[in-house]
Amino acid sequence: MDRREFFDLSAPEWNRRTPEDLLPQLNRVVAEARLRAGDYVLDVGTGTGVLIPLIAEAIAPQGRLLAFDISLRMLLEARRRIHGETVLLVQTDAHHLPIRPGSFDRVVCNAALPHFGDRRRALQELIGTLRVGGSIVISHPIGREAVNARHREAGGPVAEDRVPPPEDMEILLRGIGLADTVVIDEPEFYLARARKT
Ligand SMILES: C[S@@+](CC[C@H](N)C(=O)[O-])C[C@H]1O[C@@H](n2cnc3c(N)ncnc32)[C@H](O)[C@@H]1O
Repeated sequence: MDRREFFDLSAPEWNRRTPEDLLPQLNRVVAEARLRAGDYVLDVGTGTGVLIPLIAEAIAPQGRLLAFDISLRMLLEARRRIHGETVLLVQTDAHHLPIRPGSFDRVVCNAALPHFGDRRRALQELIGTLRVGGSIVISHPIGREAVNARHREAGGPVAEDRVPPPEDMEILLRGIGLADTVVIDEPEFYLARARKT
């Protein structure tokens, strides 16, 4: 089984597995992304779209959110959260994005980076979609150790997927030319932010 098949199979019960009290941490992710009304935002590996309503509210009414995922079944769940014209869902792979360079103000990658087979390649692809001055946020609202433990327990194709420790994340982000890097690595919250120059 590959990761796409794993997430397709997980999609119908994904929301039940997500902690119900996660909303404050998700709001913190959106606050750290510093979204503004009118922004164009990419939600990477949106899954069932937990961030979609929060991002859509922050960028309304003129902003646009393109939420994508490699799993069609995840996107079918995410579709339930969509109202109005702000959000577009696309099935695609973070390693090969069919997006014109420089189109977005913000990239938000929540709970998805460890699943990319080639992180550097995927990040370069994501950064390519940003305008100069735009920024990326990579987050894990339950914290690094909790995510790593969940992946170990889940087994299968995600068993070895790990959230990078802060020093590795800094090196990764700077290595692809990003600036103003910030990494928060608290016991129950992880977030990295960096800017395209
Ligand atoms: C742990 S889920 C997180 C979903 C959502 N962002 C959230 O916070 O609930 C990871 C998601 O990343 C997606 N994903 C994994 N590899 C991907 C890739 N190469 N390109 C796009 N999406 C991918 C999976 O299908 C899955 O929906």
